[in-house]
Amino acid sequence: MIMTSKSYVNLFRESAPYIHAHRGKTFVIALTGEAVDGPNRFSLLADIAVLHSIGIRIILVHGARPQIDKRLSEAGFRSTFHEDVRISDNTMMPYIEEAIGSIRLQLEKLLSMGLPNSPVLGTQIRAVSGNFTIAKPVGVRDGIDHLFCGEVRRIDKGAIESALDGGCVVIMPPIGFSSSGEVFNLSYQDLASEVASFMKAEKLIFISSLDGVYIDGALQKRLSLATLAQLIACDKVQSGLERKILQSAYKCCSEQVARVHLITEKTDGALLSELFTREGAGTLISKDKSETIRQAKIEDIGGLLELIQPLEQRGILVKRSRERLEVEIEQFYVSIHPEGFMLGCAALYPLNENMGEIACVATHPDFTKQGTASRLLTVIEERAKQQSISSLFVLTTHAAHWFLEKGFTECGPDLLPEDKKLLYNYKRNSKVLSKKMDLQFAV
Ligand SMILES: CC(C)(COP(=O)(O)OP(=O)(O)OC[C@H]1O[C@@H](n2cnc3c(N)ncnc32)[C@H](O)[C@@H]1OP(=O)(O)O)[C@@H](O)C(=O)NCCC(=O)NCCS
Repeated sequence: MIMTSKSYVNLFRESAPYIHAHRGKTFVIALTGEAVDGPNRFSLLADIAVLHSIGIRIILVHGARPQIDKRLSEAGFRSTFHEDVRISDNTMMPYIEEAIGSIRLQLEKLLSMGLPNSPVLGTQIRAVSGNFTIAKPVGVRDGIDHLFCGEVRRIDKGAIESALDGGCVVIMPPIGFSSSGEVFNLSYQDLASEVASFMKAEKLIFISSLDGVYIDGALQKRLSLATLAQLIACDKVQSGLERKILQSAYKCCSEQVARVHLITEKTDGALLSELFTREGAGTLISKDKSETIRQAKIEDIGGLLELIQPLEQRGILVKRSRERLEVEIEQFYVSIHPEGFMLGCAALYPLNENMGEIACVATHPDFTKQGTASRLLTVIEERAKQQSISSLFVLTTHAAHWFLEKGFTECGPDLLPEDKKLLYNYKRNSKVLSKKMDLQFAV
């Protein structure tokens, strides 16, 4: 796709709210060993460098399975697994440490690049790694001694904080140290989840071969924690990798981390699309099940204009200027996505002491059919009842049937209060519908 300079400008404007929202926040990015060696590794690390350059505090956790497989098989070992965990004994550990150490170097190398004609030109990223993870042995499970397989016991939060405060990207390999000086091999998914929780990270982003969570063949752009729990419980999860990632996502999302993203390393640019566009690229798992509906504020005017202007241009909504919105902002209610952008809006105008009008009901075209407008209508109706409005009107050219299904009936312009009737635009020929409010049940 060829982008015109106008599309660049629009894209940049669309990304701006996300840039403001993400700056200064801590993101834990968990990469599989495959992603570190994959064909998109240069652009992936360049995109991580972009995140760092706009002020996001980055902790990079990585896996090492294919690299460890290779190193061990070259040395003549045959690995055994229990529940997808490699049983690692003391003769294997030097090879495991070597494989993990070489990935750390690879990541440091990629983060140090600043080639001309690349997004990393001019960036100077300091990457640090260290003995930040304190581990304990997994021990004996189902009668099997897991030897040098470990679990996270503690994270040195202070040391990581000071590295992040110093502007460094923190690299965390899947190994941990015990107080007796032993080194343990960790699951990178568990490590990522623990680090994100310990650090109270804003986001945990898993970058793996999975491009998200599918239900009945459809990619889920958003997934609530409750649905995720059902998915894990009903055993519909395909692979060991998916199970492990979903379990780690569930654990940290139900503790300290509000959002977990699943995206694939196979799609170039998926990380930036997921974080800076409305459409996203993978699955966002969040504690907040759905949107927040609240009264609009003056800061919402930009988002409101962006939402309603395309509908005004198509003649679906009546044109409202910025100045008019500024005056009427308190009549508006908006639905806000967990990431902070506007999903929908609706306004309530009192017409006289017991009549009101609902207007400007709109849902962002990417998010229709998810109940957003219905929930806004419920809030508006409650608000109308609180204001003792017993008759609610709506004038619409395109959505009469939607309102009919919500209990409105067509009444024509004659039933409108006199002032409003005088303003009725016969050329526009909107349908007029009304609904009686049951004031007995006002809350
Ligand atoms: C009408 C509109 C607000 C619905 O938003 P939404 O968030 O998708 O609504 P909900 O999710 O609550 O409801 C979706 C249901 O309404 C149906 N629906 C949407 N528009 C409809 C219409 N014009 N007539 C009849 N039904 C309609 C959808 O098909 C869906 O039903 P389904 O799931 O059975 O297919 C949205 O389509 C929109 O912004 N339209 C343009 C603006 C407009 O006309 N506003 C009304 C004037 S004030």
